[in-house]
Amino acid sequence: MTAALIDGKAHAATLVERVAAAVPAFAAARGRVPGLAVVVVGDNPASAVYVRNKLARTATAGMRSIEHRLPATVSEAGLLALVATLNADDAVDGILVQLPLPPHIDDAKVLVAIAPDKDVDGFHPVNAGRLATGLPGLVPCTPTGCLMLLKDTVGDLSGAEAIVIGRSNIVGKPMAALLTAASATVTLAHSRTRDLAGHVARADIVVAAVGVPELVRGAWLKPGAVVIDVGMNRIAHTDGTTKLVGDVAFAEARAVAAAITPVPGGVGPMTIACLLRNTLVAAHLRAGLPPVVGL
Ligand code: GUN
Repeated sequence: MTAALIDGKAHAATLVERVAAAVPAFAAARGRVPGLAVVVVGDNPASAVYVRNKLARTATAGMRSIEHRLPATVSEAGLLALVATLNADDAVDGILVQLPLPPHIDDAKVLVAIAPDKDVDGFHPVNAGRLATGLPGLVPCTPTGCLMLLKDTVGDLSGAEAIVIGRSNIVGKPMAALLTAASATVTLAHSRTRDLAGHVARADIVVAAVGVPELVRGAWLKPGAVVIDVGMNRIAHTDGTTKLVGDVAFAEARAVAAAITPVPGGVGPMTIACLLRNTLVAAHLRAGLPPVVGL
């Protein structure tokens, strides 16, 4: 079997189009387009690339983005003051503080300072609690994108055996909550899991979000499984060149799975598209407008 490729780029482009199509109605109702504030502290090169992509995509969707760059030396109090200003600004629907932050700033303190109804990352404990208890709220972008790819590929997830590898607050835990809400039977595996290969062998759906290059081997997979690879690991070759690989040994997995996301071009583009979606969702919730159908 050669697995079908799940084209995250194409799915993301369709989602951005849907978001863009809904912006004029919001603008007509509110007299402004949805606004996303992106806060970057310091000059981490990887963050610069992510943020540039986020800002460019926001413009593609017809929304306004506001970039706030702070020096790496900014104090925690200084960053919290900016977050408070953005919380109070009615033209800002979404606030994203790019991680990682410099070591002298406590990430958790900053994330809880963001107003939950503007928390387009879905990282605030209030939104994590809403997800865990089945209440409407803002859900982290990467697992939202993974779930969309899975539903498009598999259809009904009810009763499916799913394994999520990695228990981060950003991907693994919310992914497990979303799959549970979709009525899958979920195993949440992590670095202390015994016999990971044995757990993977039972899964119809594998979501790898652990940050270990090519950890999941093709021979572990159940034939016909659907594989979502969230990993983005840059590995160095001996000749000095580098290559981006996922958490799944792609060529091996492709020979066993029914469908798989490539790295790059799989989950990555969906994360940014879901950020735009979340910004529109936040704008509608804040304005008391009904949710956009089909998002
Ligand atoms: N750094 C890398 N990815 C992300 C993300 O999705 N959100 C935030 N806030 N920071 C990140």
